Amino acid sequence: MCGIVGYIGHREAYPIIIEGLKRLEYRGYDSAGIALFDGTDLKVSKTKGKVAELENRIKKEITSNGSLGIGHTRWATHGVPNDVNAHPHYSNSGDLVIIHNGIIENYASLREELQKRGYTFKSETDTEVLINLIEDVKIKEDVKLGQAVQIALNQVVGAYSIAVFDKNKPDEIVIARLGSPLAIGIGEDEFFIASDASPFIEYTKNAIYLEDEEMAIIRLNKEVKIRKIHDDSLVDPYVQELQMNLEQIEKGGYDHFMLKEIYEQPSAIRDTYRGRLKANQGIIKMSGVEDNMKKFLNANRIIVVACGTSWHAGLVSEYIFEDLARIPVEVEYASEFRYRNPVIHENDVVIAISQSGETADTLAAIKLAKSKGAFVFGVCNVVGSSIARETDAGAYTHAGPEIGVASTKAFTTQITVLTLIALRLARAKGTISSSDFRLHLLELEMIPDKVQKALDSDAYVKTIADIYKNVKNFLYLGRGYNFPVALEGALKLKEISYIHAEGYPAAEMKHGPIALIDDDMPIVVIATKKGHYDKIVSNIQEIKSRNGRIIGIVTKGDKTVKELADHVIEVPETIESLTPLLTTIPLQLLSYHIAVMLGKNVDQPRNLAKSVTVE
Ligand code: M6R
Repeated sequence: MCGIVGYIGHREAYPIIIEGLKRLEYRGYDSAGIALFDGTDLKVSKTKGKVAELENRIKKEITSNGSLGIGHTRWATHGVPNDVNAHPHYSNSGDLVIIHNGIIENYASLREELQKRGYTFKSETDTEVLINLIEDVKIKEDVKLGQAVQIALNQVVGAYSIAVFDKNKPDEIVIARLGSPLAIGIGEDEFFIASDASPFIEYTKNAIYLEDEEMAIIRLNKEVKIRKIHDDSLVDPYVQELQMNLEQIEKGGYDHFMLKEIYEQPSAIRDTYRGRLKANQGIIKMSGVEDNMKKFLNANRIIVVACGTSWHAGLVSEYIFEDLARIPVEVEYASEFRYRNPVIHENDVVIAISQSGETADTLAAIKLAKSKGAFVFGVCNVVGSSIARETDAGAYTHAGPEIGVASTKAFTTQITVLTLIALRLARAKGTISSSDFRLHLLELEMIPDKVQKALDSDAYVKTIADIYKNVKNFLYLGRGYNFPVALEGALKLKEISYIHAEGYPAAEMKHGPIALIDDDMPIVVIATKKGHYDKIVSNIQEIKSRNGRIIGIVTKGDKTVKELADHVIEVPETIESLTPLLTTIPLQLLSYHIAVMLGKNVDQPRNLAKSVTVE
C-alpha cells in the first residue's frame, strides 16, 4: 500500500517521478520522498505529508538533476509517518538506496542480526533493514547488486515490491515483487517503474507487469532481464499494450476525482455491459461464464469474498443470485474467511470481488479457496491485477480507473457484472421465465439513462447536505436489495466526512438502534416503491413518532413517504433487483457534499489508501 515510481533513461528523472507520485497518491499519502542521482552524487529528499509538500521541500534541497531516480508515497506500516521513516532509505555506506511497498514480517530478527554485525538504523522501518541486508550480502558474498537483492529476498518473509539502485552503478535499477504490484514501462532507451502504469502512460504504452516472485534487472541500453527470485530461472518478458489514456486519470474539470467518478457512472455501467448484453435479442454473453458454465451450474453454493465496498456489492449479489438463479450464496469478509478454516467443497464456486484486484485479504482468501479445490471467479476492475491473474476465470467491470479513495463507480459496475452473471445463470437453469428475463435485460439496458436522471438531484442533495453537515451521527436504513445500499451509504459518509454512520436493515431498528433516535439524528431511509414498501413505510412511522429526521430515497412520484419524511430524494422507477444501481447515487452525492462542506480531503481521506495491499 504505497506508491513507487522510478526512472532511468535520457530525460530528467525528477518531473517524471514527482508527477508519477501525484498519480499514485491514492495508494498512500502520509509521507513521500525521492532519490535522484545527479550524475555525480545521490540526492535524497523526503518529508512527512503529501507529495505537494515534498515538491516544496525539493525546491530548496535539490538543485541539480539527473536521469536516474526513484520516488515513494507512503502509507505507514512500520513506524509513524515522519521525515525519518519516509522512503527512500539508504544502506549504512550510503551507496544503496531503496523504496518499498509491503511488509517485511521477519524484519525484527533480521535487524537484530545486522545490529550484531555493526549496522545501525535511523528509522523504525522494515525497509531500512532490507536495504542493509542487501548491502551486507553484497559485501559479504562479493556479488553484484542484482544477486545481492536476490539472496537477501530469499531470507525475507513478507510482501514487497521494491526498487533499488547503487550510486556507484547509475546505469541500473533492480526491482522485485512479491504480493504488491509492479509495472515496467518500456520506452526508447528509457525505462519507467511504477506500482501501476499511470505514471508513465504519456511516455509509453508498452508495459511488463512483474508476477509474484519475480525480479528484474533494468539496465540502460539493455533488454530487461527477469528471473524468479526463489529458483533463479529466467522468465520471458511479456510486453502488454496498455489501453489506458491520460484523460482517464485526470480530473477533467471536476473538483475531485470522486465527483468525476460519480458522474461517470452512466458511461461506466454502459461500458460494463457493452458487448455482453443484447437486450433486443434476449442474450447475455460473458466468456468467463460461458467457458465455465458447467462449474456454475453444478455449484452447490456460491461463496462471495471481498472487502469494504466490494463486500457490499457482494451482499447485493446474494439477493440477485438467490432470487433469480436460486443458488445459495454466502457473503464473507475476505479477512475473516482466510483465517477461520472455512468448509469449502470442490463444487463450491467462489466469487472474489475487488476494484483494485490487489486487496491482500481477498487475494489470500482466493488462494485458500483454490487450495481446497474450489473454482474461483474474479470480478475486478484493474486489468492484469493480481486477483485477475490469480483467479481461475473472471469478468472485468470495465469501469475505467477509479482514483478517489471512496469507491463509487466500482460499486455500481460490480453490481452490473454480478447481475449479468446471475441473469445468465438463471436463464441456463430455467429459474427465470423468458418474459421476465427479457424484462430484466431491457431494464438493465435503460439503467445508465436512469442513473443520469438520478444525478439530476445533485443540487437538491447539496441543500440537504448543508442542513445536516454538522450532525455527529447518521443512520441509514434499507430492506432487501437496499439493505447493502444502506451499509454502503453509511460507509461513504464515514470514510470521507468522518461523521459516524451506521447502516441497518430497517426492520432491525426496533431491536436496538431505535434507542438512538431523537431530533438530532438524521435517518436516511431507502424506500423505493418496489420491495417491502409498506413495511418500510411502517418503519418510517416508527421513526417519526420518535422525532427522528428522515431523508427518504424514494421512487419518482412517491406520495406516501413524501408526507412523512423531512426530505425526499427521487430516483427513477425500475425493477426491484436493479434499484441499488439508482438508490446508491444520492447517497454518494450526500456524503460527497457533506465532506466538501466540512473541508475534508475527499479524494484522500485520512488514514486510508485506495489499495489495501497489507492485511
Ligand atoms: O480494491 P477493492 O475493491 O478490493 O477494495 C476493497 C476496499 O478496500 C474498498 O472498497 C474500500 O472499502 C473503499 N475505500 C470504500 O470506499
